[in-house]
Amino acid sequence: MSFCIRGVASDNTVLFEQTYADGERVLLSDALSAAGLPQDRPCGGRGVCGKCTVRAEGALSPVTDNERRALSEEQLAAGLRLACLTYATGTTLIYYSIEKRDMQGVTQGFLTKFSISPLRGSKGCGLAVDVGTTTVAAYLYRLSDGVLLGSLCRKNPQRAHGADVISRVDYGMHGGLEELQREILDCIEAMQKELCAAAAVPAPVCRVITGNTAMLHLLTATDPSPLAAAPFIIRRAFGEWTDQSTTYLPRCISAFVGADITCALLSSGICLDESRTVLLMDIGTNGEMALWYGGKLLCCSTAAGPALEGAGISCGAMAITGAISRVDVKDGEMVCELIGGKDATPIGLCGTGLIDAVAALLRLELLDETGHLEEDVDIGGSGCVLTGADIRQVQLAKSAIRAGLETLLHVAGMGYDDLDELALAGGFGSYLHPESCADIGLIPHELVGKIRVLGNAAGSGASMILLSGEELARSEQIAANAETVDLSTNPVFMEKYVDYMYF
Ligand code: FES
Repeated sequence: MSFCIRGVASDNTVLFEQTYADGERVLLSDALSAAGLPQDRPCGGRGVCGKCTVRAEGALSPVTDNERRALSEEQLAAGLRLACLTYATGTTLIYYSIEKRDMQGVTQGFLTKFSISPLRGSKGCGLAVDVGTTTVAAYLYRLSDGVLLGSLCRKNPQRAHGADVISRVDYGMHGGLEELQREILDCIEAMQKELCAAAAVPAPVCRVITGNTAMLHLLTATDPSPLAAAPFIIRRAFGEWTDQSTTYLPRCISAFVGADITCALLSSGICLDESRTVLLMDIGTNGEMALWYGGKLLCCSTAAGPALEGAGISCGAMAITGAISRVDVKDGEMVCELIGGKDATPIGLCGTGLIDAVAALLRLELLDETGHLEEDVDIGGSGCVLTGADIRQVQLAKSAIRAGLETLLHVAGMGYDDLDELALAGGFGSYLHPESCADIGLIPHELVGKIRVLGNAAGSGASMILLSGEELARSEQIAANAETVDLSTNPVFMEKYVDYMYF
């Protein structure tokens, strides 16, 4: 049996062809991976998200029920298949579509004032990296004076094994740990090379790599099974040097409050002022939060699922060119804004667009407070349709985040008035529209005016550690002093979670 992968650009130009001889029956997604061709698999290849479509011809396994549910008759007739469910059983031609799309990743963030005293001397340059579940951001610095020489943001290649942390932990526990490690190390290496080439400098002498607890486990091929089952006690919290003492991995707070939050707390400067009360939130596939009050730090994490990152939604998309990033209501109609502007072709709703769209549906009374949608709705005539099942995913995500916020305040005995600030970290927090978030109940209306956007605060914190031994020590102190609230056994969380399912 042989199969051929043909790379085709959006204008149908054939860019490359690779022919392989292989054994019997090869899953199309495995064939693509083996050929080093990245493909998003938000559901981790379980055949339920319908996002891994490829066009294939030749000897293929029969169309499955899941494929009939995910793909229309026209799509099937055009040769589209789900790569994670379809096997090549003989000579096969797979079309791999090559579309260069700009990604709306966030590399900017704010650093609080600190003095430069690099970890490994001041010669050469250093690299700070934030490994997010969805994207990876890297920053190259000249160590002598802390000048930023360049920054980059790329998709996390591990997305091929699922959009959320749980799918990847599961993949790692079932034999995929080394593969996951190789993917992220290769990604960091490639970004490092690109940054050094652009700045015409040799490889960095020192690196700081931050990320959530699961990402650091996968980066270091550490058994991630403690992250998969109660009591979720991690054996390795990091805050350690690796790679022959050239790479520092900042300290995590708990199984679900990672080193990315430690770094975000550091760069935001929140813990420097005991007189203020601040809630920091990083919304992604997990909603990680930290409440700073009276010199104490209370943290929690809540599983929001991948909906707000554009996955798990029938017309969801990453924040790349063509994604609907904003929806407004004008003259009783929904009006969309796309990443890439008017000339871009709509490809789906990214997280911010999704929240806006749900808020718009509520304003237009097409959606009731229980989440009932009379019929599927085309958002602003874009061809991107929201269904009742999509609304359910948004309800699950927003109620998890809101219930986490309410529980932290409850444990601290505080109300919205006590908060001086709501600090939003991460890419999603940088682009979301606060009014829409409040309209759907993701955050309280009372906190809209108290929002401060931090940008990629985790990347900024990693940068501060890279450039200052003092900041490294401060980051360790922050993580060590934090207390974690376990939401899974908290009755207030359960109650609020049910309450906030409603709009
Ligand atoms: S359906 Fe194939 S990855 Fe989700």
